[in-house]
Amino acid sequence: MVTVSAPGKVHLIGEHSVVYGEPAIIAAIDKRCFVNATKNADLIVKTPEAESIYDINEVTYFVNELRNLWHKCADKKDFSEMFETMKEDPFNLVKATVGEVLMDLNIDEGADIEIRSDIPVGAGLGSSAALAVSVVKAMTILYDKELSRDEINDITFSIEKYMHGTPSGGDNTTCCYGGLVWFQKTMQGNVIKNLDISKLENFFLVYVSRPEKSTGELVQQVRELEESYRQPRISDIGRATHDMLDALTTNDTKKIRECINIAQKNLSELGVSLPIIDDICKAVRGIGGAAKLCGAGGGGTVLCYHEDRLKLLEAISDLGFSATETVLGDEGVRVDSK
Ligand code: PMV
Repeated sequence: MVTVSAPGKVHLIGEHSVVYGEPAIIAAIDKRCFVNATKNADLIVKTPEAESIYDINEVTYFVNELRNLWHKCADKKDFSEMFETMKEDPFNLVKATVGEVLMDLNIDEGADIEIRSDIPVGAGLGSSAALAVSVVKAMTILYDKELSRDEINDITFSIEKYMHGTPSGGDNTTCCYGGLVWFQKTMQGNVIKNLDISKLENFFLVYVSRPEKSTGELVQQVRELEESYRQPRISDIGRATHDMLDALTTNDTKKIRECINIAQKNLSELGVSLPIIDDICKAVRGIGGAAKLCGAGGGGTVLCYHEDRLKLLEAISDLGFSATETVLGDEGVRVDSK
């Protein structure tokens, strides 16, 4: 048996603006998805709550269908059908991931895959990317395929496309490489830089609610805004992301706070926040800290930054929520045992 794990992620800054070519800084967090895998003729998927078995011909057929459907949706610029298909079975993410690996690497056997994840689903913390990265890595170990991190990341990006339509690729990249990642989409391809910065402390996660809309739907919602309204806000987040890089390099905590708060103001104006998220962020700003939604928004998790742990925990608890401390910059995908 092989055990592999990959971290979840938070967008320190740059979600949504990254879709329009601005950079994002994304950090791996100290919550991980663990996958135990053994060889098996079929695909068996187990979580603490459920278990299913699939014939591998069904799995590869499903991936062929997904590949065609993705192109059909991309032509229509509407991924609703794709999102519906992925929601039909809670294990479709794993089925698609294993299917992609089988087809890409010419493997004709399945696996028994047991999943245990510390990363809440639908919280903007990269649960799907962490699961896909772990499953790809586990399959390559089981079947003795030497794949680089870049190759693992490429396969995982296909899965993110089935989940989110036209994602930037930032989530899978961070779950794969770990640390703090500078991520930017350019015409020449993705710029991925692992920032040489030690782990960041004094960050807290506050889970608010399960978003009603998916990442793909929220990205589409922002795209539907008038360009003259959207673009200045996207550019403002872009500027704050460059400033954040300077602030991290010089450990300028005041500037880190300012950049986080600028991002939240703009994300809220882009319509992806919620009144309760705005309230939490306002309360954290009120006690001298910084806070923003993380990921696509519409609910999910608020990322808070404050140097006084007790003050932050108290302010969050006054609003009826709880905060979990997290370290930013954890290790990427790794083999825990084999
Ligand atoms: O909520 P998540 O983890 O899916 O993050 C999405 C980040 C976006 O910038 C909104 C979309 C993307 O593909 O980068």
